[in-house]
Amino acid sequence: MSPSLADVTRGRILFGGDYNPEQWPEETWHEDVRLMKEAGVNSVTLGVFSWSRLEPEPGAREFGWLDRLMDLLHEHGVGVVLATPTASPPPWMGRLHPDTLPRDADGRVEWWGGRQHFSHSSATYRRYAAAITEDLAARYAGHPALTMWHINNEYCTFDHGDEAAAAFRRWLREKYGTLDALNSAWGTDFWSQGYDTWDGILPPRRPHYMKNPGQVLDFRRFTSDMLLECCTAERDIVRRHTPHLPVTTNFMPLWTGQDGWRWAREEDVVSVDLYPDPRDPLGAQRGALVQDLTRSQARGPWMLMEQAAGPVNWRGVNHPKPRGLNRLWSFQAVARGADAVCYFQWRQSRQGAEKFHSGMVSHAGPEGRTFQEVKRLGADLARVADQVSGTRITADVAILHDWHSWWAGDHEGRLSTRVDYPEVLTAWHRALWEAHLTADFAHPEDDLSGYRLVVVPQLYLLTDSALANLLAYTREGGTLVCGFLTGVVDEDDRVRPGGMDARLRELFGIRTLHEWWPLDAGETVACEGFRGTLWSEEIEPAPGAAETVPYRGGELDGLPAVLRRDRAWYLSTLPEPDALRSLLAGIAAGAGVRPVLDGLPHGVEAVRRGDLLFLLNHGREPVTVPVPGTHRELLDGTDVTDTVTLGRYGVAVLRS
Ligand code: GAL
Repeated sequence: MSPSLADVTRGRILFGGDYNPEQWPEETWHEDVRLMKEAGVNSVTLGVFSWSRLEPEPGAREFGWLDRLMDLLHEHGVGVVLATPTASPPPWMGRLHPDTLPRDADGRVEWWGGRQHFSHSSATYRRYAAAITEDLAARYAGHPALTMWHINNEYCTFDHGDEAAAAFRRWLREKYGTLDALNSAWGTDFWSQGYDTWDGILPPRRPHYMKNPGQVLDFRRFTSDMLLECCTAERDIVRRHTPHLPVTTNFMPLWTGQDGWRWAREEDVVSVDLYPDPRDPLGAQRGALVQDLTRSQARGPWMLMEQAAGPVNWRGVNHPKPRGLNRLWSFQAVARGADAVCYFQWRQSRQGAEKFHSGMVSHAGPEGRTFQEVKRLGADLARVADQVSGTRITADVAILHDWHSWWAGDHEGRLSTRVDYPEVLTAWHRALWEAHLTADFAHPEDDLSGYRLVVVPQLYLLTDSALANLLAYTREGGTLVCGFLTGVVDEDDRVRPGGMDARLRELFGIRTLHEWWPLDAGETVACEGFRGTLWSEEIEPAPGAAETVPYRGGELDGLPAVLRRDRAWYLSTLPEPDALRSLLAGIAAGAGVRPVLDGLPHGVEAVRRGDLLFLLNHGREPVTVPVPGTHRELLDGTDVTDTVTLGRYGVAVLRS
């Protein structure tokens, strides 16, 4: 069996963060470990951006400082997630080897002086990355502090340079075999783009006018694959040295650049970085979405690799977390399956680009509110850890999501640039979240038979096997709800005849999809009983096939906004939030799916994990939550009967 997060947690919740002690004198390290102990920190991630320290000139190795740190952390009982430092090559690499630097679509070089300035296709970069990884793994394989490997950091670079172009051609040859197949998949007869030689193919560099969508889609697939090759190359090196230790790489939340399903299969531990805006009224829900997605990628417990104890510094205006919010959002992650609650970063930097980004120890020091709250959180997590760690969440609802469909639907030539896939996904997840229906995410080709309800906010691209999967799911009694722009194209981004796959039209009782009618900003469309936003469609239903909810007024008056045929529903618009929530709640009830708890006051989130019920108050006012029966509240260690009161941003963890 391959190693997993459970091998590291051993019944605990990991608590800690990125630790960048090379920014501090050694005396501070001693204060750090003392404060870590005080806060209950049991895990830190070291070395994420240490390459220029470890290899100050080509081929040199400076491990002494890291040896001392590993020993110090071990002495204080803090486990180390050791990172390969390959996300930020030292300046000498770009200077001596300009071929390691990526280029954007305009041909501009991404220079050193920031980070992530490496070309995934550069043989030179890969050689240096492998060498430092090899030496790091060899040196620390036997170190008792080492618990896990962290490869690189937030893989996210695109490269349009020459070496990437050659790699793209190789990737395409492998995929298509012949130029005819490529020309057909990309529809190159449009605008005279037919290729007569592989050498003529480029990454989608900036053309005079719109890019070929097939080329762009394959370039995104290629980029995800190339970054994954970099990641697995390093993973394989560390695995060779420590086959018993798990390996992770941290994802960005709902990030477009990687096929997150495919990547997750290559990791022992799935981890994510999560930074909802404390001022965003939907911040908690956006967090929940990422947590649900990460849990689904992990198929079990996952690791919150990074969050902020206070403000970030990369939004236009960066707000701190009000008192209690850090604890609340940390418990939300645990409720939704996290077995690790970690931060960027341990101690706030005094220099560098992120000196105004919070740390667990802020500029205010150990007396500051941030560290005091971190300490309290550490103690609270320790109180519930043995009852939570390793337990699972069961969901009756699946939300289908696919990166390839996102990439294809994102093309500049689409009918409405207002249709933003992550926002559509968020709107549907929000409806379920507000209805207290716990949902997993799933790939459209996954086995869906365990779910009573499957929702498809928008899968513009559906492969033939995904279509067959959805049809089989409904045939076998599942309830399916699809949003607009679903099933429009095949896997080459070729529009399916009729503008929606014929089998799907048949499923929903659609005879003809005459036109798509996108809506302008601020425009809504009246439907019977609610208003639609973003999109509408001119649909002619198949006579007698479907029950419908019509559009009212305007061009589409009387035509169906919503169609339902047996257990298959189609929404040709995005209902306003309240309407989407009650529609999905009603459909879920019909499919036998119950909310986590009835009678929850506004702003309270409820999640069941294992035998525990987590209650989270996202409001600043105290609320009383009905919880029939007697339960043990694990944070206070008291019994509660029939109701529990949650204070401002309060949390309760109940065992019945
Ligand atoms: C993450 C990154 C960290 C730090 C953090 C700031 O994207 O992995 O290194 O930059 O953001 O929010």
